[in-house]
Amino acid sequence: MNLQGRHLLTLKDYSKEEIEYLLNLSEDLKDKKKRGILGESLKGKNIALIFEKPSTRTRCAFTIGCIDEGGHPEYLGKGDIQLGHKESIEDTARVLGRMFDGIQFRGFSHESVEQLAKYSGVPVWNGLTDNYHPTQILADLLTLKEQFGKLEGLNLVYAGDGRNNMANSLLIGSSKMGINITILSPESLWPDKDLIDICQAYAKLSGSEIKLTEQVEDVEGADAIYTDVWCSMGEEDLATERIKLLKPYQVNDDLLSKTGKSHTIVLHCLPAVKGNEVTYDVFERFSKVIFDQAENRMHTIKAVMVATLGKQ
Ligand code: CP
Ligand code: NVA
Repeated sequence: MNLQGRHLLTLKDYSKEEIEYLLNLSEDLKDKKKRGILGESLKGKNIALIFEKPSTRTRCAFTIGCIDEGGHPEYLGKGDIQLGHKESIEDTARVLGRMFDGIQFRGFSHESVEQLAKYSGVPVWNGLTDNYHPTQILADLLTLKEQFGKLEGLNLVYAGDGRNNMANSLLIGSSKMGINITILSPESLWPDKDLIDICQAYAKLSGSEIKLTEQVEDVEGADAIYTDVWCSMGEEDLATERIKLLKPYQVNDDLLSKTGKSHTIVLHCLPAVKGNEVTYDVFERFSKVIFDQAENRMHTIKAVMVATLGKQ
């Protein structure tokens, strides 16, 4: 499998086999790191990390992943560079592309990461936009694989804001990989019809099922329940309205009891607002797997950089 030079803007651009390849590479890199073996595949490579929005996991995963493989990461935070203020994204992309070998972007508009990819001439990785969060999904898939030994045929329920970057990206990743995905959310927060249609085509190919529902009883059969904050970064003003709308979809003991399965796990991309999308007790009970997920950000992001930019 050769992914050299590829961008990662959304998982729409990757086939099931390519995602499997990235997951296998992540497992290999994770195993090596646990045994104290680091690589040199990014030796001599400089990587720009642009952050318009804050980050703990994504920033640290790109930084450590890059250094572990011998590369040099450079953090370019909000206010550090001219991007989008004094200088267009198109020009910034052309400057950074002359100096860096790869660019990570986290920010608001998905169009910004597309512009960086279009004009920089180097691999661009999306570390979260308002619409998509593809590197998170790779960590989630790796975690599911570790928990269940497989992905195909698993039942994943995403409860909460059904049209945010996480819901959109889980819909793409699950339908590509043969995971049955249920979006449990008020209809006003369901994903865009266009995205659902695209994912229905992936689901047909992989043999998975997509369900959109407002009924909490539809968690029945869930192997994993996934949730995320009710107000994503930039939407903090909507808190009162969202809490009212989403309270019935909180991941709590009552919801878990409706799965009918004793082995159901709870996943969260973090950061969490305990007491909103998940209760404190449920969060703590599943904290081992939730922090495995957080750790897996590093192994999967490293795999993305190695596969698309590293010396093989
Ligand atoms: N899950 C995630 O992307 O976390 P950060 O916002 O801390 O990067
Ligand atoms: N939906 C969340 C994800 C954080 C990792 C946000 O965009 O803030």
